[in-house]
Amino acid sequence: MAKKDNLIVGVDIGSHAVKICQLQHTGTGYKLLSLGSANIPAGAVEDGVLQEPDEVGKAISGLLKNLKIKKSKIGISISGYSVIVKKVNLEKMEDEVLDEYIKSEAEQYIPFDIEDVYLDYQQVRTSASEANDRVEIMLVAAKKEVVNDYLNMLSELKLKTVVVDVDGFALENIWETISGGKENVALVDIGASKMNINILSEGVSVLARDIVVGSDQLTEQLANTLDVDFETAERIKIGAEQAAEHSEDVTRIFNQTCTQWVLEIKKAIDLYFANNPDKPLQALVLSGGGSKVSGLVDYIHQETGLQVYAFNPFERMTYDQNKFDSSYIQLIGPEMAIAAGLAIRQSSI
Ligand SMILES: Nc1ncnc2c1ncn2[C@@H]1O[C@H](COP(=O)(O)OP(=O)(O)OP(=O)(O)O)[C@@H](O)[C@H]1O
Ligand SMILES: [Mg+2]
Repeated sequence: MAKKDNLIVGVDIGSHAVKICQLQHTGTGYKLLSLGSANIPAGAVEDGVLQEPDEVGKAISGLLKNLKIKKSKIGISISGYSVIVKKVNLEKMEDEVLDEYIKSEAEQYIPFDIEDVYLDYQQVRTSASEANDRVEIMLVAAKKEVVNDYLNMLSELKLKTVVVDVDGFALENIWETISGGKENVALVDIGASKMNINILSEGVSVLARDIVVGSDQLTEQLANTLDVDFETAERIKIGAEQAAEHSEDVTRIFNQTCTQWVLEIKKAIDLYFANNPDKPLQALVLSGGGSKVSGLVDYIHQETGLQVYAFNPFERMTYDQNKFDSSYIQLIGPEMAIAAGLAIRQSSI
């Protein structure tokens, strides 16, 4: 059994909310220790860039305090234009040679000045049938400036950031850990401002993309069409406030936006099928707050013919029944997926 202290606290800083998750290893899996979410002001994080560190810092420290988390080792993830993930196919070489090669040749794969990015890479697992004189490398480059803004904000809070991951990888990690990960699935995370699609085939990511659509679109259109402020529109969207006299407008806005989301999902699936005609998808797994739009699961099922379900990363975890309500866990699970994916990372320092 791994030591409890090796696991980090997962902090998912989204454009709508900060989500925090703390897990513990048990002999057979994981136990949920803490879970929470706090909204941040609109515009505080935009396109993955930290615009208002003070506001975001306040949300994180308030949440940690509420959750009584004193441990300071945390993991975050980044997304957006400032992070590039690229698969490159290379000749097999010794680890040290590969390391040198990547450092010197990365420039040709990355559209940024190499001096301006943090570079990381990992060998991708490939099936045994593939030629074994070549390797697939997943190259990740993240703008130093953007990452440093997060690290500085967190160190101001006396937090030690020991992992900087990528949203899509964190999601993939928690999915594979929870499910066993051998199915061919499409993971789709719909947040407030972006949708991440990641198609996994036999446990390997074969198609990943971020698309700039999300649940904020609904709020903006409701606010404009119904002529209400953003907060009211947000409440109408999640069903906390009625707008009976505008119900036709509301339905139309939801239909249009969900149609657009599903078109993007179908485009990715079609591309996957074109390249992998013999590897049918078994399911489409939804996460993120935007995936909670009522009727979306059925609609995507109708349009894609796939089995569609909402991802609850805590489904097979244990937790203190006095501390967490199972219906709350079920409800909040989908938007906690990335935070949970960070919380299963080990700290090596
Ligand atoms: N029932 C619901 N119907 C529609 N949208 C919902 C519902 N519940 C929550 N949301 C929306 O989900 C979004 C928050 O989800 P999430 O926490 O995954 O986003 P985020 O991680 O902050 O954003 P991003 O990843 O895009 O930066 C908000 O826009 C919120 O209004
Ligand atoms: Mg998110």
